[in-house]
Amino acid sequence: MAGNRKVKPVRMRRGVAAGEGPVAAASNAMWGGRFAAGPAEIMERINASIGFDQRLYRQDIRGSIAHCEMLVKQGIVSPTDGRAIVEGLRRIETEIEAGTFAFSTKLEDIHMNVEARLAQLIGDAAGRLHTARSRNDQVALDVRLWVRDAVDRVEVLLRDLQAALIDRAGEQAGTVMPGFTHLQTAQPVTFGHHLLAYVEMFGRDRGRFADCRRRMNESPLGAAALAGSPHPIDSRMTARALGFDRPMANSLDAVSDRDYALEFMAAATICAVHISRLAEEIIIWCSAPFRFIALSDAFTTGSSIMPQKRNPDAAELARAKTGRILGDFTALAMVMKGLPLTYGKDMQEDKEPVFDAADSLELGLAAMAGMVRDLKVNAERMRAVAAADYSTATDLADWLVRSLGLPFRQAHHVTGRLVAMAVSKGVDLGELSLEDMREIEPAITGDVYRVLTVEASVAARTSFGGTAPRNVRRAVAAARQRFLRAGRGKG
Ligand code: ARG
Repeated sequence: MAGNRKVKPVRMRRGVAAGEGPVAAASNAMWGGRFAAGPAEIMERINASIGFDQRLYRQDIRGSIAHCEMLVKQGIVSPTDGRAIVEGLRRIETEIEAGTFAFSTKLEDIHMNVEARLAQLIGDAAGRLHTARSRNDQVALDVRLWVRDAVDRVEVLLRDLQAALIDRAGEQAGTVMPGFTHLQTAQPVTFGHHLLAYVEMFGRDRGRFADCRRRMNESPLGAAALAGSPHPIDSRMTARALGFDRPMANSLDAVSDRDYALEFMAAATICAVHISRLAEEIIIWCSAPFRFIALSDAFTTGSSIMPQKRNPDAAELARAKTGRILGDFTALAMVMKGLPLTYGKDMQEDKEPVFDAADSLELGLAAMAGMVRDLKVNAERMRAVAAADYSTATDLADWLVRSLGLPFRQAHHVTGRLVAMAVSKGVDLGELSLEDMREIEPAITGDVYRVLTVEASVAARTSFGGTAPRNVRRAVAAARQRFLRAGRGKG
């Protein structure tokens, strides 16, 4: 049964697609048996996915090699044909990578482009590769492998962003900045503490991606069109060869669902929301009224009309990509909604959103890491703003509770009156005289001035997870252990 064919030399010229060679029949080389005529031009255009699914070529070839080796091992394909197929597939990969492979829309998608070229290269043996396989389990496999690769890239990028944040947090552990609620000065915090908040968020994002990877790591190969295969295939072997934990338990599910892609984009959306908040803060911090930080030439652009300008475009684009990524999730969720089992051509629409979400997220993450490393901190300005607007009023109230034994509600009221007095005099709390303060609360002593500086305020916040520089230094060391040690941060 096995033909003893050698890999033939490439005859294809640049620009001549495999589908346009002798294998392409008037109808279609793959299903010409049933079809007499070719498709309408518009049918070909709406049907073709090669314009975007060529990005799956590596996964497609990897899956085909694993499938072929299994067919040989199971005695379904002869070792000679198997060798020719694998060699041909490797050659095709080289051609695609070298840019000499001519993709054809006539051949619809990456699977048929590769297979038609394989037939050109090795002849009839190519026809044996698709034994016990359908494009339905083939594409389910390719996309799954692609998403898994994307998750692995995102994991590296997230870890790098965390590393950048942790480094800067260590360096800025004692830098006082205003902490905001409602974007109103609330209490002084440290910049290091603020940066570590994002380290936690991105840590949970890593957990979500790791979780999604674990769940998706099952192989759909062997489901064939939908019902499984009558050939004595070994789905465990292909699953193992492709790095999956096991084959999928149900063939209908294997070719039907794209939940792993949805899950990837859902995790990407949440991660992008985190990115957008950091991006927004960077944008605010480097605006003229704030001047907390400055970005260098490397991460800003100028204006074509206003020579003084320095715009944080990278941060703005990272912020904007969030909308795209959520849009990608929504697009695929709507494609999948209400689809009857099993495969429907609708599902060909899974790829563009997945690619776009991954591209956008990867760019955003890399840009954020770059900006975090690049930003120059204006500690003086941060401290000045932190000290303004009665930011230590809570410290005063807490002093009244601790030193005078006032109930907190009463302390809050007394402090409110002291703030009103300071406002009317146009001074800070620490600039009120003891006499003035005693007008409102006679028991106050000079000891109160000790708690009214921003340094005292942050230093006092030593509760677990609090902003005291001492805590932040410890938190930086802990974050390194939790997130940056090899093999950490996966869950
Ligand atoms: N290009 C198709 C896709 O991306 C491959 C699967 C086609 N299967 C089919 N039965 N027509 O979904």
